[in-house]
Amino acid sequence: LLDVWRAAGHFSTSHWREVGRLADFPRDGTYPLPAERIAVVRKGGRLAAISLECTHLGCLVNTLETGFFCPCHGSEFGPLGEVYTGPAQRSLHWSALRLRRGRIWIRTGALTPEPHWLDLPLQSEEGRA
Ligand code: FES
Repeated sequence: LLDVWRAAGHFSTSHWREVGRLADFPRDGTYPLPAERIAVVRKGGRLAAISLECTHLGCLVNTLETGFFCPCHGSEFGPLGEVYTGPAQRSLHWSALRLRRGRIWIRTGALTPEPHWLDLPLQSEEGRA
């Protein structure tokens, strides 16, 4: 069983990718990064990374003030990816995110149904960005 577990890790397609400085996400809001197929969500001193891939058939969703909209078949999602109208049946997914020396990194290829909120440090880390 241990060999199977190690082999799965060896062939994993997930990896960490830098997406910008913390200073690029200065206040509460949703910051789409279409090239990365994610948006950084900043809310109340926390950050998370939500997938921009529609859970219906995988089209790239647009970011709106009220949430997200899929141009392919019209699914609408709330600001935290919850389904408002279909045909999508599942909420948008999330990526893990971390902060290193004032820079934001996301984990690609390992989406989960729940957000991975990262509590932001007070001023000092942001000042390095
Ligand atoms: Fe988004 Fe169909 S791919 S609604």
